[in-house]
Parts: sequence; structure tokens; C-alpha cells
Amino acid sequence: MLDLLIRNANLPDGRSGMDIAIANGRFEAIDRGISAQAVKTIDASGRLVTPPFIDPHFHMDATLSLGLPRLNRSGTLLEGIALWGELKPLLTHEAVVERALRYCDLAVSQGLLSIRSHVDICDDRLLAVDALLDVREQVKSYIDLQLVAFPQDGLFRAANAEHNLLRALDKGVDIVGGIPHFERTMEDGAASVKRLCEIAADRGLRVDFHCDETDDPMSRHIETLAAQTIRLGLQGRVAGSHLTSMHSMDNYYVSKLLPLIAEAQIHAIPNPLINTTLQGRHDTYPKRRGITRIPELMAHGVNIALGQDCCMDPWYSMGSADMLEVAHMAVHVSQMTSVEAKGQIFDAVTTNSARAMGIDDYGLEKGNAANCVILQARDPIEAIRLKATRLCVIRNGQIISETPSKTAALALPGRPSQLDSANYAPVDHSQ
Ligand code: FE2
Repeated sequence: MLDLLIRNANLPDGRSGMDIAIANGRFEAIDRGISAQAVKTIDASGRLVTPPFIDPHFHMDATLSLGLPRLNRSGTLLEGIALWGELKPLLTHEAVVERALRYCDLAVSQGLLSIRSHVDICDDRLLAVDALLDVREQVKSYIDLQLVAFPQDGLFRAANAEHNLLRALDKGVDIVGGIPHFERTMEDGAASVKRLCEIAADRGLRVDFHCDETDDPMSRHIETLAAQTIRLGLQGRVAGSHLTSMHSMDNYYVSKLLPLIAEAQIHAIPNPLINTTLQGRHDTYPKRRGITRIPELMAHGVNIALGQDCCMDPWYSMGSADMLEVAHMAVHVSQMTSVEAKGQIFDAVTTNSARAMGIDDYGLEKGNAANCVILQARDPIEAIRLKATRLCVIRNGQIISETPSKTAALALPGRPSQLDSANYAPVDHSQ
């Protein structure tokens, strides 16, 4: 007897009419015409069933703090960092935990079940570290939460940053973070990359840096990060987040840089929602989008995983834990509008992010943990276009969130009485 049987599902790879059998928290079979009995059966009616969404770049210690102690008036990264510095002394363990748990509730409702969060270690109390370690434990049955030890004020700019970073790692924070473009000089930035990569190599940990989140085309810390990754044998275990300077770099230099990033097997984590608002703030017109070169990186075989970065905090006043909103923005700012490109963007909020975070046991395959989401859309492109409703979110075979389908009741002469946006304009993407 199965625990759960989902009938007539469309899958992200294009298969349709598929049944998904779940037993003991795992996918038992994914095939057509499964006849086994099940405790519960769901008819997906040709809707898309996808592995859960993943956010590989977030700041859970700051989330939902918008307006505390004031709003970011300039909208810049630097005012955001200054504002966070004003808020930090006012934080309490209970308030950080409460906001993070509220965010996790929202994430689950959006089918977002794995999150990598940076946590600021520059506060000598390590208050946010302790709070998010508590949260990681509290949510572990429904969200995989990875934590990155993030020296927000700079490894060398902040006197106790390295000491605190090591303390955070000793407490159980998973990953080594950094912010080389915020160090005092380019040389300090490069030195911080070297030092932090050595710490990661010594401890057998992964690396994820905020890297070159600036419009300065001479911010080239990604080059140092790739070189240190290769020198220390960290290939496949290092992520470069943001990489916005690449938007403004000289094309000849980028033609050398892209193969180097690929050689180092660095995962690139662009954050298109926030960086379209933060970058280009010193420009008049034309205004740069400030998004890294996603299609070019993909063409060189670099794994691209899209992040949300922030949700209602000192840096970004918007956000709703919706990785389809992130994908939607990526399609626009990267002009990835072909059928193939939109499929790649869907991968960038699902399977690519699982690779970037090193999550095994992910995907709609027999034997994997039965984690999936039923969307009010028929395929990945429609899911991105509609930022589709998450009808049903399943974790280890259990339904942990349900949302009613979005259907409008119309009162128009001679027109249908109901409108389901997912059935409004069917498109055959194979044409
Ligand atoms: Fe970030």
C-alpha cells in the first residue's frame, strides 16, 4: 500500500500523464499507469509536478526587518550595510528566531524547501549565529537550512572578523563566507579570498563569497577566487554570489575569465531581483542592469543557481520567498526569452541550486526523498510566466502546505463564468 499517489502529472522534463508513487517518505515509482492502492490519491490533472524550489543565497538574520530602525532612503548597497549596522545592536535572539520562523512558514507555502543563508559574524555576541543555529534545528524536518559564516563588515576591516568567523564555524555554521569587494583595498580583497579559502580547505568546508557586488569593472575578485579554488583543490565546492561587476567588465577580459571560472568549477549565484535595484545607482542614462552574464556563463558550462538574497530587509523592501519571481526577473534582465533559455532558468531555481548547495537525494527519481510541489501550471515556462500558485507542497511524502487554485469568477455577458489563468492560453512549446 502506497502512502500517496499523484496521478496524471506533467514533469519538468516534458513527460506528461505520469503517476508518482510515494511510500515511506520516498519516491517508490514514477511511471505511467501505476495501479497500486494508496492511502491518499491526488489527481494532478495535467499540472506540473516539480522538485521543490531552492534558494542558494539568502540572509535569514535580516529578513522581515524592513523599517527597523528606519528605511533605506538611497536604495544603495552601502546604505543597506550601514542600516544593518544600526540594527545589529538592537537585535535580540528571540526576535531574530521569530522573524526567521515566520519567513520559513512563507517559504514552505511557496514550495521553497532548501535555503542557504548567510549569517553575519561581525557582532562579537554571535547573536544571529546562535539564533539561526536554533532555527536550523527547529525547521530541519521541513527545510534544509545551510548557514554561511559571513563577515559582513569585511574580514580585515572588522577587527574581530576572523576570530568570530572561526568561532561561528566551531559552533556548527556550515560554510565559509566573505566579501572581498568591501575590504579597504583591492589587495586586501584578494588577501581575504586567499585566507578564507585556506580556512575552508583546512576544515574541509565549502565556500560561498559575496563576490564583486559592485558596478566597478575593475573589481576582479572572482579571478582570485577561481585561482585559489584551483590552487587548493576546492573545485566544485566554491560559489561566487552576485558577480555583478562582470556586467560592466571589458569583453576581452571576460573572454579569459569565463573559461577560468569553468575550470575552477565555481557555482555562480546571481540575484536578479535585488541587483536590478541596487546596481547602476551612480549611472545617469543609460543605466546598467547590474546582472552578471548568465547566458555566457551557462554557455561555458558554469553552473548557474539563482538566489533571492533578501526579503523585506535593509537592502530590499520587496520579496515573497517566491523563486519563480526570481526566475521571472532573470528571464527579463538577462533577455533569456527562448524556449530553451526559459527552461534553463527554471533549472536555475531547482536542479542547479541543488548542485550548488551539494544537496544529494534531490529530484523526481525512484529512491529519492519524496519532496515535490504541484503547481497551477502545465510546464516550467508557464510556471515562470504566472509565478504559479503552489497547490500542494510535499516533504518526505507528507503534505505540508496547500493553497487553493487561483480562479476568477467572471460576470460578463456571453463569456465564461470562470477563468483559470493556467488554462487561458495553451502554448505548444515544441513548435
Ligand atoms: Fe547577499
